[in-house]
Amino acid sequence: MTFKGPVCSVIQGDAREVLPELARDGLAGQVKLAYLDPPYNTQRSHRFRGHYRDNRTKAEWAALIEDVLVGVRELLCENGSVWLQTNASELGTAQRQGDEVFGQDNFVGTITWEKTRRPSFSHAQLASTTDFLLIYGKCRAKLAAFTSGKTESGKRVPVAHRGNKRVEICFPPKAVRFGGPDGVYAAGDHSSPGIDAWLQEDVTMANGRNVTPLRLMLPSRYSPESVYEMIAKGGDFFIPRKPFRPSYIARGGAPKLISNLWSWRLDSEMETNEDGAKQQSKLFPSSPFPYAKPEGLLRRIIECASEPGDIVLDCFAGSGTTPAVAEQMGRRWLAIEENSDTIRDYVIPRLAGRVQAQPRPVVLADNLSSLP
Ligand SMILES: C[S@@+](CC[C@H](N)C(=O)[O-])C[C@H]1O[C@@H](n2cnc3c(N)ncnc32)[C@H](O)[C@@H]1O
Repeated sequence: MTFKGPVCSVIQGDAREVLPELARDGLAGQVKLAYLDPPYNTQRSHRFRGHYRDNRTKAEWAALIEDVLVGVRELLCENGSVWLQTNASELGTAQRQGDEVFGQDNFVGTITWEKTRRPSFSHAQLASTTDFLLIYGKCRAKLAAFTSGKTESGKRVPVAHRGNKRVEICFPPKAVRFGGPDGVYAAGDHSSPGIDAWLQEDVTMANGRNVTPLRLMLPSRYSPESVYEMIAKGGDFFIPRKPFRPSYIARGGAPKLISNLWSWRLDSEMETNEDGAKQQSKLFPSSPFPYAKPEGLLRRIIECASEPGDIVLDCFAGSGTTPAVAEQMGRRWLAIEENSDTIRDYVIPRLAGRVQAQPRPVVLADNLSSLP
């Protein structure tokens, strides 16, 4: 069954009610990425700056997250994932609900996002500088690796790795470039602090390469079989000098696996809440949406967890950061937001200048099934 409703739509309603309707309308099993950025339950005020309610009890918040996760699970495709953003106070609750709904086996991990460049030290005990993205796969075993960008070429990856199992690797003649003087190097100890390495037989270096087999016993990052496969594919190995420490010189261009630490300190493209606030002031100078996520964060999430053409779902759309970025990145999208004023004042104006095709309709949850 294919989804009857329009994709690239904003749906006004409570996500708990809209999600089962979407499933009934044929969206079950079609969504590649669901991003959830619910109110963090900060208890700060009844209606936080007039935009949304953020003072649920712990139990109410847990029930909201559970219901939304149940609805999302139904809509995800087998290789889809949900990314749930929260702060430290509700991280434990969020993970309990995630484990309950998706099962611990489908828990992929938690990304720590450094959310600010300018932490506030007004808190009683501890300044908070991080948010968390909990990730679950509908079926973790079917989930592709999350990658972003491409590996650099020319990067040296040392074969020796402290603490790994010692194995014998026999580099065939000409497989290794050598930066030291030509000559015969006698079998013997090539250890250095932390790396227990041994040259198993004499080796002759000529014209900057080994011309006889180079047999090394060392704690290795790679299995001998992987090294032989890399050599067979023309992989470049280099030893600068004695003691012999071969490095693999990466060709580059391979998809780069992401880590679970996302920080502007490590990655110049990683944006923070300050960037989100600047983007809001540009879009809505008189009333920026509070704590809208920066577009760069959504760009990274969408890049890692979906491909062009996939359906991206946001159940707590707020100012519409996810649909705006998904549209730029050639994804189809659905955004749910319960507050009609937020849709009117933020999401629609934000998307108006960006959408490629027709203006997208705002759909009321109870009208969904009557769509053509
Ligand atoms: C933290 S904001 C999301 C901000 C958004 N990520 C952005 O970048 O602008 C949370 C939003 O969820 C909406 N919301 C809260 N409960 C909801 C529910 N049950 N269903 C749909 N939307 C809800 C609120 O009205 C609010 O706009």
